Amino acid sequence: MGRITKIFAALVICLGFVACNCGQKCRSGKDDKCCQDAECCQAKARAAAFDEIVASRRSVRGYDASKTISEAEVREVLAAAQEAPSWINYEPAKYYVAMSPEKIAAVKEALGRNKDRLEGVSALIVSAFEQSKSGFVDGKIVDPIGDQWGAHDCGLSVAFLILKARSMGFDTLIMGGRDADALRAIFPIPENETVMAVIALGYRKDDPQRPERRPFDEVVKFF
Ligand SMILES: Cc1cc2nc3c(=O)[nH]c(=O)nc-3n(C[C@H](O)[C@H](O)[C@H](O)COP(=O)(O)O)c2cc1C
Repeated sequence: MGRITKIFAALVICLGFVACNCGQKCRSGKDDKCCQDAECCQAKARAAAFDEIVASRRSVRGYDASKTISEAEVREVLAAAQEAPSWINYEPAKYYVAMSPEKIAAVKEALGRNKDRLEGVSALIVSAFEQSKSGFVDGKIVDPIGDQWGAHDCGLSVAFLILKARSMGFDTLIMGGRDADALRAIFPIPENETVMAVIALGYRKDDPQRPERRPFDEVVKFF
């Protein structure tokens, strides 16, 4: 250990902080169990990393055309989407991926005004779900909301997709403003699948603003 490092370490200890195994700084007092517990300390670091992913994810409406995402990377993102939970593990979510310039141009035409937000994207991913799966058992509806569970599971899978993408340094835009029939003309989407969103994948050109959220207590109730 160099002299300066030693002086710095001594200063930190004097001020009542110790460095944890996982690189965080904790108060050396008995109240912070992470200072003694490596597992707890690592969990804290993981939570901080996840919070950073959540906080930096935004709907991005302008992409950097000088950077591209490879097919292998898109596969990695979609593998995370497939890990999402679903009704009886039916996995109703399906994806159709446009990566060639021709397919991307065709999908853009199905996106109305969203088209102007997509210059420089690397991929456009159509999400869909197979009907009569989630909410059904042996093909029979078992819950009053039926196929809305399919939409639920598809959205859940897309949530995994966009967070995994952000963890890899990518950006996304979920678009509900799309022409489902036009998308069906581009991809072989079977009739028993409901087309949901189109998700843009690329690198942000500028840092987007965070839109305000409703007050926490308005949307969460504890009893
Ligand atoms: C189901 C869904 C559909 C959306 N459709 C569009 C869309 O068509 N065009 C668009 O620019 N943004 C769309 N958005 C993005 C929302 O406007 C955005 O998530 C919201 O304003 C919050 O901003 P944030 O994602 O940066 O937190 C959509 C988001 C969701 C979840």
